[in-house]
Amino acid sequence: MAMSSRFSALRKRSETKEKQEEAAPVETSTVVIPSVKKGETEEPKAEQPVVENQPATSDRVADARVRLHRLLIEEINLVALEKLPKDEMRRQIFDFVSEKTREERMAINVAELDSLVDDIVDEMVGLGPLEPIMRDPDVADILINGHRSCFVEKGGKLQQISIPFKDEAHLMRVINKIVAAVGRRVDESQPLVDARMADGSRFNAAIRPIGVDGPLVSIRKFSADKLALHKLVEFQALTQSMAEVLAAAVHARKTTIISGGTGTGKTTMLNALSAFIPEDERLITIEDAAELQLQQPHVGRMETRPPNIEGRGEVKQRELVKNALRMRPDRIIIGEVRGEEAFDMLQAMNTGHEGSMTTIHANSPRDSISRLEQMIGMAGMPMTQSSIRNQISSAIRLIVQVQRLADGSRRLTSISELTGTEGDVIQIQEIYRFRKTHIDTDNRVVGEFRATGIRPRFLEELAEVGISMSAESFEPNRVL
Ligand SMILES: Nc1ncnc2c1ncn2[C@@H]1O[C@H](COP(=O)(O)OP(=O)(O)OP(=O)(O)O)[C@@H](O)[C@H]1O
Ligand SMILES: [Mg+2]
Repeated sequence: MAMSSRFSALRKRSETKEKQEEAAPVETSTVVIPSVKKGETEEPKAEQPVVENQPATSDRVADARVRLHRLLIEEINLVALEKLPKDEMRRQIFDFVSEKTREERMAINVAELDSLVDDIVDEMVGLGPLEPIMRDPDVADILINGHRSCFVEKGGKLQQISIPFKDEAHLMRVINKIVAAVGRRVDESQPLVDARMADGSRFNAAIRPIGVDGPLVSIRKFSADKLALHKLVEFQALTQSMAEVLAAAVHARKTTIISGGTGTGKTTMLNALSAFIPEDERLITIEDAAELQLQQPHVGRMETRPPNIEGRGEVKQRELVKNALRMRPDRIIIGEVRGEEAFDMLQAMNTGHEGSMTTIHANSPRDSISRLEQMIGMAGMPMTQSSIRNQISSAIRLIVQVQRLADGSRRLTSISELTGTEGDVIQIQEIYRFRKTHIDTDNRVVGEFRATGIRPRFLEELAEVGISMSAESFEPNRVL
């Protein structure tokens, strides 16, 4: 298939969704990267439940909420109420609460009454005080360190908020509700739990005695609109030329791995790049908690399973990789490679499943290779170091390094190509890099993306399948 136009690879999917802006010539001067997403600075959202919910709740209303909730539990058939559809339940609670507030002559206005009813409904059917935060589309992460210390990540920045948990027991009730919904349990004998919530969010809790000051909760919210590659270009996480090279490489089955630290945007990048896999390929995804949203029609999704309460029934990534090979995939996409499954993954990449992809927790391309070496060692196969390195260098072609900078912005800081081994050493050549130049007065990191001047070796292979890349994209020391 021919992709003669420079931009065709990048447009392939985005054009169906929204009109992509005419590829802005990025080869101008220095790039200033704002610390927050565009939309957030320009048009602050009218609805900000996280902030609004707390100050609006005066002590008086907070007291009333606790009291009414208690009354509700005492006077109403909760089991029957819980079975009602949410609208009907809300109506009944509304009636009950208005009656009680009248009886008790509580001074409460309509807005307060409404919010009170919402809170009680959230408490009954949802996740209580977490509910409005879960609904806030701008919140990416929720981090709770005991019921009194809560943080959220919004627009790349962590900020402290107050979530009105009544006490630790209240927080525990919410945790139990979440884990029970997915058939798990958390208690003193099993104080750590990892789960995928009903809406797809990733949930982790560490309760006492592991959580020294009370339950530690971390939620990575599931976002229905994953950032597409052209969006990442728009956010200046990478440039148009870099995006084109990556899109073409993925399209043409040049095996790519994404390396980065925690929360740096690895999964987001993997998801964005996966959009350039041709639609006629069969893909199998393997994850701990299914986060990827591949757009191809032919995708089989698998998730690992932790051991049950008796410690049985665990299904590990390695078994899933082995199993995937029996499912006739064209490519296997592993959410994050962490251990012994690296061995089977590399075998797959070397035997007909080129173009498979994964992410890896590492701080540099070199580091990701040593991590891989260690992981392969964990598989317990009798392999010499040099054969391990040969496997790695023949399986993987590109390493994409992502990083979260001091200002919270997420950037692709390096694209490197593996070109083989010399002696015992894997050869890596960097094609693009991001260099920080300074911090501006708004504390934003200013820097530039540059080509190193090395033309990737896989360009010839791309040309063979009809994808030509402009030589300009690789001109040395040109600011992109
Ligand atoms: N370039 C970007 N610009 C703005 N937000 C981004 C960017 N890349 C990722 N994000 C957001 O950052 C958050 C973390 O991203 P992601 O889940 O991809 O990170 P990760 O490295 O896979 O994290 P983990 O180590 O927890 O698996 C998400 O909410 C995502 O939407
Ligand atoms: Mg991830």
